[in-house]
Amino acid sequence: MIDPGILDLGYLLSAGLFIFGLKMLGHPRTAPRGNQYGMMGMATAIITTVVKLEIETGLLGWKYILGGVLLGSLIGYVLAVRVEMTGMPELVALFNGFGGAASALVALSEALERIGIGAVDPANGIPADPLTLWVIWIAIGLSALVGWMTLTGSILAMLKLRGGISIFGKWIRTPTWGPPWLNPIKVACGLSVFTLIYLSAVNPENTDYVWYIVGLSSLLGIMLVLPIGGADMPVVVSLLNSLSGIAAAFTGFIIGNSVLIIAGSLVGASGLVLTFIMCKAMNRRLVDVLFKTFGGGGEKESLTRTKVGSDAYEVAMLADGAQSVIIVPGYGMAVSQSQHQVKEFGDLMEELFDTEVKYAIHPVAGRMPGHMNVLLAEANVPYDKLIEMDEINPEFPDCDLCLIIGANDTINPAARSGEGPLAGMPIMDCDKARVVVIIKRGLSVGYAGVDNDLFYEDKTMMLFGDGKEMMTKLNAAIKEL
Ligand code: TAP
Repeated sequence: MIDPGILDLGYLLSAGLFIFGLKMLGHPRTAPRGNQYGMMGMATAIITTVVKLEIETGLLGWKYILGGVLLGSLIGYVLAVRVEMTGMPELVALFNGFGGAASALVALSEALERIGIGAVDPANGIPADPLTLWVIWIAIGLSALVGWMTLTGSILAMLKLRGGISIFGKWIRTPTWGPPWLNPIKVACGLSVFTLIYLSAVNPENTDYVWYIVGLSSLLGIMLVLPIGGADMPVVVSLLNSLSGIAAAFTGFIIGNSVLIIAGSLVGASGLVLTFIMCKAMNRRLVDVLFKTFGGGGEKESLTRTKVGSDAYEVAMLADGAQSVIIVPGYGMAVSQSQHQVKEFGDLMEELFDTEVKYAIHPVAGRMPGHMNVLLAEANVPYDKLIEMDEINPEFPDCDLCLIIGANDTINPAARSGEGPLAGMPIMDCDKARVVVIIKRGLSVGYAGVDNDLFYEDKTMMLFGDGKEMMTKLNAAIKEL
């Protein structure tokens, strides 16, 4: 008979794999291996749990766990294979929600199992220590609060990233709505949940408290995400990611699973670090993102100005004389999947004209953290050519040609004005380059819905069209020179 204590070594091993995996995710070069370590950590945790269950309870729980693993893997596989690169951020938001839901459901089942059996430990039927029971009820309540809030908040965040939902063929835009009077309601709702958690702990016989906690926590998730719009979505998505980890850590505490506590805490802490990195990138305080609606939530501006477009040959001739080029990718590069053509452009510039080429990466370009890094890495752009915003900004005044592919909010000088949804967000100083070329399909606004003065400047040439198509034409024109 194996000593169940020895099996904790399995949890120790999986926790170690999670920590090393997380460390490796810190750099694009090591990130794929970091993911593999994470997967190995999860597999080790599942196998350890199954063996532990079998030895400690003899409940043959492995059949349910294996069934869950197979079903989850199948759903995950189908979603991951079918998702377009542009749909990844929505999928990530949904997965955050699933993480929260899993914790919330475990908390609910634990609560329902405990109600009616009073001060008895459901695992072994032995009367439990009152203080331990009280603490467990608090953990159940907190797990439910964070879990349900994460689920509803993440579903709404996913719909906001999609822009809306199609119901019976009719497209309904996801609203962004947050009048100032909603804030006291949010606070009251949060305080009510904490009171209910306390009441459920001192009066564990009452089922009603559990359902009130579920309802109010779900409502709180919606109220927290509903007012957030414009360019602030990156902050909320990483915050929800962190919350899903915190919910899992509470759940680990309820069911006494140390690896769940460790993995949940790692996700919670790293998600929180990412949230603050995003806040810094947006020049926002977290409390402002959660309680202020910047510029009324990203209603699209209507445009009346016009600008004459340029053509690929004109831009190619301009590129011929450039000694330094900075390429600025944005969400449109992801939509058009033009990263390979962008890389080809960079290579052509270096080989044919001996031009110095750099890629400028804004922390919130695209729709998920590291979006541009992932795409450019896929096209084999060397990592040392990807320069972060703070480092590249001083180089724009000496740059002969700034080529922007499908970026808008991250290069919008309106952010410097102190007003509107982009107010205060640091941007790429593309407008300081000698010549600016912007590839996009028209003059439409970006994610935050703000018109961009850079399009209309004299030094700016617009190449109107799909990113991939225009980059292909530009490369062909360069080769013909
Ligand atoms: P955006 O401001 O979203 O602008 C992208 C531009 O790409 C659009 O104006 C669009 O103009 C153009 N575009 C779309 N499809 C295209 C295609 N096929 N070919 C060429 N151009 C195309 O992009 P950004 O500068 O990367 O800024 C990102 C925004 O998303 C920020 O506001 C950020 O806060 C927000 N956001 C970021 C994240 C993360 S974590 N990165 C998450 C959520 C939200 P046309 O329609 O005229 O072509």
